[in-house]
Amino acid sequence: MTDVIILTGAGKGIGKAIAIEFASRAKNDPGFNPSLVLCSRSPEDLDALAAQCRSAKIQTLSVVADIARREDRERLVEQTLLEFGTIDCLINNAGVGRFKNLTEFSEEDFDYTMSVNTKGTFFLTQKVFPVLEKKRSGHIFFITSIAAETAFKSSAVYSMSKFAQKGLIESLRLYGRECNVKITNVMPGAVCTPMWGEAGETLRNVMMMPEDVAGPVVDAYLQPARTSVEEIVLRPVGGDINE
Ligand SMILES: NC(=O)c1ccc[n+]([C@@H]2O[C@H](COP(=O)([O-])OP(=O)(O)OC[C@H]3O[C@@H](n4cnc5c(N)ncnc54)[C@H](OP(=O)(O)O)[C@@H]3O)[C@@H](O)[C@H]2O)c1
Repeated sequence: MTDVIILTGAGKGIGKAIAIEFASRAKNDPGFNPSLVLCSRSPEDLDALAAQCRSAKIQTLSVVADIARREDRERLVEQTLLEFGTIDCLINNAGVGRFKNLTEFSEEDFDYTMSVNTKGTFFLTQKVFPVLEKKRSGHIFFITSIAAETAFKSSAVYSMSKFAQKGLIESLRLYGRECNVKITNVMPGAVCTPMWGEAGETLRNVMMMPEDVAGPVVDAYLQPARTSVEEIVLRPVGGDINE
């Protein structure tokens, strides 16, 4: 039996680390057989990651898709069902962040952030949830952020999008509890990934690494059927970076 796992934003950063962590756990546990559906907008990232997973004998399906686009979300779910016949897990990891002073945000910044983090995540979840609800099992993760609960001056729009994700999670959990579907909110503080651009290199020594998030995500997925890890909060040992 295989576990069919859709992972958005798989090409870089935290998403890539989660894929590699699933592959490494499967390599060490013959009873765990994940099939990873890798999604992002950059085919070259997915090709490289799929090759890495295949070398660990993990089955993958790469779907180049922009979760902000309805037809791409539909194609992602349809291709998954066509290839594997079911879905066991959705990891809503794809996300974008633009960090500026309040008065500098353009309407384009706002629309871009909301279309991926809020709208894209909502409608992809809405499309996948009925598959899990019908089979009365499954798991949906959201990689939100500590910015889903804590405000930072440069992250007004990002925080809005992440607070909104938290609203969705809390509503969805009420549905999930009725049909045995686990909902996990993963809230990391600063993680050294391409999202930070050049600032990431300067701040590297006060950040977590993507694998520090990936490990707890896979641990939560592998809990016994009776147990749901509802929230994971991870921070750099020195606390939040005040950006
Ligand atoms: N890094 C941090 O400090 C941090 C902390 C807390 C939470 N988070 C959250 O963790 C998640 C992953 O962040 P990260 O730091 O790993 O970011 P990242 O390094 O920028 O990677 C993001 C991944 O998502 C993909 N992506 C972005 N927009 C997409 C879209 N519209 N459709 C499909 N794929 C898309 C990107 O690839 P393409 O651009 O090629 O599509 C990339 O593979 C995000 O939701 C972020 O908000 C990050």
